[in-house]
Amino acid sequence: MNTSSLQQSVWVSICGIDDIPRLGSRVVHHQGHAPIAVFRASDDHVFALVDRCPHQGGPLSAGLVHGHAVTCPLHSWTVCLEDGQAQAPDVGCVRKVDVKVEAGRVFLGLPGGS
Ligand code: FES
Repeated sequence: MNTSSLQQSVWVSICGIDDIPRLGSRVVHHQGHAPIAVFRASDDHVFALVDRCPHQGGPLSAGLVHGHAVTCPLHSWTVCLEDGQAQAPDVGCVRKVDVKVEAGRVFLGLPGGS
């Protein structure tokens, strides 16, 4: 696992971008953190959100990715992948996780320490 420091976060290499299917996701379990859903849009933008729908906690990683949004598989709330906000008329927010892609590798920005 490759890590480097950036302010108070640690960038953690989780996989190659091609390990995430377009319009799909991958779930990352990292010690001390809630499961994180990492999404790849059709334009190859990669997003990361805590894998918990702001409605009733459904697994967003099992949802339908379209554009830069995901529709929850349980009750069809749509959540913006860019900021984690539920789209109107629904109201709620899921925590976004910093993510970057470098040289074909996907990194999550996770709190350092421990
Ligand atoms: S739990 Fe996601 S829409 Fe209800």
